[in-house]
Amino acid sequence: MTNGNSDADYEGIRPDRRDQAEAFDAIGDSYDDAFPHKEGQVSAGEWLAGALSPEARVLDLGCGTGVPTARRLTDAGFEVVGVDLSKEMVRLARANVPEGAFHQLDIADLRPGGPADLGRFDAVTAFFSLLMLPRPEIPEALRTVHHLLVPGGLFVISMVEADMDNRAIPFLGKSIRVSGYLREELHKVVEQDFEILKESSYTYAPAISDVPPEEQVFLCCRRRD
Ligand SMILES: C[S@@+](CC[C@H](N)C(=O)[O-])C[C@H]1O[C@@H](n2cnc3c(N)ncnc32)[C@H](O)[C@@H]1O
Repeated sequence: MTNGNSDADYEGIRPDRRDQAEAFDAIGDSYDDAFPHKEGQVSAGEWLAGALSPEARVLDLGCGTGVPTARRLTDAGFEVVGVDLSKEMVRLARANVPEGAFHQLDIADLRPGGPADLGRFDAVTAFFSLLMLPRPEIPEALRTVHHLLVPGGLFVISMVEADMDNRAIPFLGKSIRVSGYLREELHKVVEQDFEILKESSYTYAPAISDVPPEEQVFLCCRRRD
């Protein structure tokens, strides 16, 4: 780990996530019905597609159903690898993007020296997936992304702007735990490992009533050396 934390330190802050995986197994593709018209996500994906060379390798962390991101990046000709904690999400991603390679893994499994090694990537995307981690794990996950990227590699992250740590919230009929930061704090956390090249934010009202409107923040970044 680039900050000198040991593997044992990481295991110490990593909770049991079986309930989180089961919630997303049950949510499945109703996620796409609840969150249609992903304008911010689509436009961040377009930024990335325009910035990469044609043979680029891209990792989609917490890929969900593979739509829209893995699908779009595959259509643009990139080699796409996706990772998700939820078995059902991985199944849906494989069905939606048969050309991609999808693995049921925890983001934490990809840490330096961790149990899974998928190689290095020209870009990583993490749309609304790092917010599923408790706050102490988010900087560790960002260091993992740094480790997974080639020098100068690109990273697109989206988060919901909110001052909360591992809070249980009702979400599409299930309970999930989420974390977030206010904008300035988010910048500080991300800027430890990345230079922010572009930022956009959207007020987004999901199509289903148990999820309130949220402020979504998209950061297009480059790996610091
Ligand atoms: C809110 S959804 C976003 C899905 C997709 N990125 C999108 O924006 O459409 C979050 C996804 O992250 C996955 N996830 C949650 N915690 C994870 C973890 N620790 N490792 C890998 N995936 C995780 C969930 O299973 C879920 O598919």
